[in-house]
Amino acid sequence: MQQIAPSILSADFAHLSEEVQRINLSEADLLHVDVMDGVFVPNLSFGFPVMEALHRYSTKPLDVHLMIVHPEKYVERFCDAGAWSVGFHLEAVDDPTEALQLIRNKGVRTCLTINPDIDVHRLDAWLDQVDMVLLMSVFAGFGGQSFIDNTLDKIRYVRAEITRRHLSTLIEVDGGVNIQNASAIYAAGADILVAGNAVFHASDPLEAIRQIKYAH
Ligand code: DX5
Ligand code: ZN
Repeated sequence: MQQIAPSILSADFAHLSEEVQRINLSEADLLHVDVMDGVFVPNLSFGFPVMEALHRYSTKPLDVHLMIVHPEKYVERFCDAGAWSVGFHLEAVDDPTEALQLIRNKGVRTCLTINPDIDVHRLDAWLDQVDMVLLMSVFAGFGGQSFIDNTLDKIRYVRAEITRRHLSTLIEVDGGVNIQNASAIYAAGADILVAGNAVFHASDPLEAIRQIKYAH
């Protein structure tokens, strides 16, 4: 089933509770939570207080995307703050084993992410170790960028690997997703599409969510 995870990064932070309540009323499957540290990416977003506030207001499971160095230092706190899944970047660590184990020990779903310049084959060894992989279709750091088209080939590759190895790992795609390109991204093999600007900057966000989720 095609799923959508609106990214709260594109919401109006002065009216966060209304924005979250709007998503609660929508057909969104997850709420995507982008955490940036100003080191791994050249931008800052928010941390635990906002995460906890989102958890209080959101009826949608929180899909946490950490764009930070040393994720092993923080993943447990995000689990405790109410994450449904916690993902971090493979290229942010020497070895993801420790951080993945910390997340798993909390009973939370694990996700590994790669930026567009990271060889997709680096995920091969981890596909059977995680609940999801998140393929970035823009460089992590900012909402509102354009979808990088060669991501479709990477999605097809990972989908073929998952099928060949009889895995149930989910494929999430993040960056530049919109109503126009959603159907091609699902067709390439994605399970979950993240969408920030295409939802929160739409004149009718609930309709944008529907059109992306049911794109065909
Ligand atoms: C980028 C974030 C994305 C971003 C998506 O660093 O990981 O989740 O918010 O925003 P759009 O859909 O506007 O590209
Ligand atoms: Zn994200």
